[in-house]
Amino acid sequence: MSFKNLLVLISCVVGAAALLLCLDIFKPQREKLISLLPANLKDRVFGDLGATPKDRLFTLNELERYRGQVYLAILGQVFDVTKGRKHYGPGGTYHFFTEYAGTRAFASGDFSPQGLTENLDGLSLEDIQKISDWVNFYHKQYTYKGKLTGHFYDMNGNPTKAMNNFERLLEQAKKKPKYRDEDRKRFPRCITHYEVGFGRKMMCSKNSHGIKRDWIGVLRQYYQPGDSHTRCACVRDKGRPFSGDSSSNNGDLNHPYLKVYEGCKPTATSCYIEDTNLDLTIY
Ligand code: HEM
Repeated sequence: MSFKNLLVLISCVVGAAALLLCLDIFKPQREKLISLLPANLKDRVFGDLGATPKDRLFTLNELERYRGQVYLAILGQVFDVTKGRKHYGPGGTYHFFTEYAGTRAFASGDFSPQGLTENLDGLSLEDIQKISDWVNFYHKQYTYKGKLTGHFYDMNGNPTKAMNNFERLLEQAKKKPKYRDEDRKRFPRCITHYEVGFGRKMMCSKNSHGIKRDWIGVLRQYYQPGDSHTRCACVRDKGRPFSGDSSSNNGDLNHPYLKVYEGCKPTATSCYIEDTNLDLTIY
């Protein structure tokens, strides 16, 4: 066989193999091969051509992007969050989410290195629901890129026990009344009005916004997953928390989505809000 014919034969074999790998039945083999490529080559071949396989597999190291892209993982799913660079880029409030696989922190609000973990042991059903809400948020707002291997997916991209456990808990959470429906009772809105010369006054009373209750509560800035604004809430500061099995006795004050308004006392039931706080707060 001439050298030219040999080259043609090799090209045909390689071409046929490449075509076969495109078929869905060879998906595991395809992903295995892709995962063996160096990260920058993977991106050059699949990223730039826009032909990224739907379930491309990533390791944590590969999330640290180059060429200006920012990637984040939650519940073993990887998203390109480059357009949210102001939150996730270097110096952004939530930059740590691009450096750690920290699914637990999306519910707990513990952003320390210990808190940024994939271990979800002991989380409440409400927390599980919150994590699921965040995953939905990322699917809506950002671009899904693939799976992170390790905790929630194994090296072949199959769900691990941890993922099955999460799904089981999420099913249970869905059967309960949605925690957001409880929000109105748990974190009733403050009464607010604007006073010329003083700014916006916020107050809590036993019947703010028609939610009758036997407590007044203290003012807090309240954030909900994926929202770009916070709102003013009246928060119970005594007794057991609304839900969860916490043994604390300071009402819902430990809830991770709450913050004391700048310029207001933590115990305040009414307060004037400074203009700097107004941008990100809705009433
Ligand atoms: C468990 C606790 C918390 C988590 C996991 C969390 C996570 C996040 C994430 C990931 C974003 C970026 C969303 C995006 O990509 O658009 C965000 C934005 C934001 N967070 Fe938090 N957050 C928490 C608590 C809070 C608290 C307590 C406040 C204030 C009361 C707050 C205020 C905000 C605001 C105002 C934004 C939007 C900023 C903007 O659009 O410029 N967050 N949060």
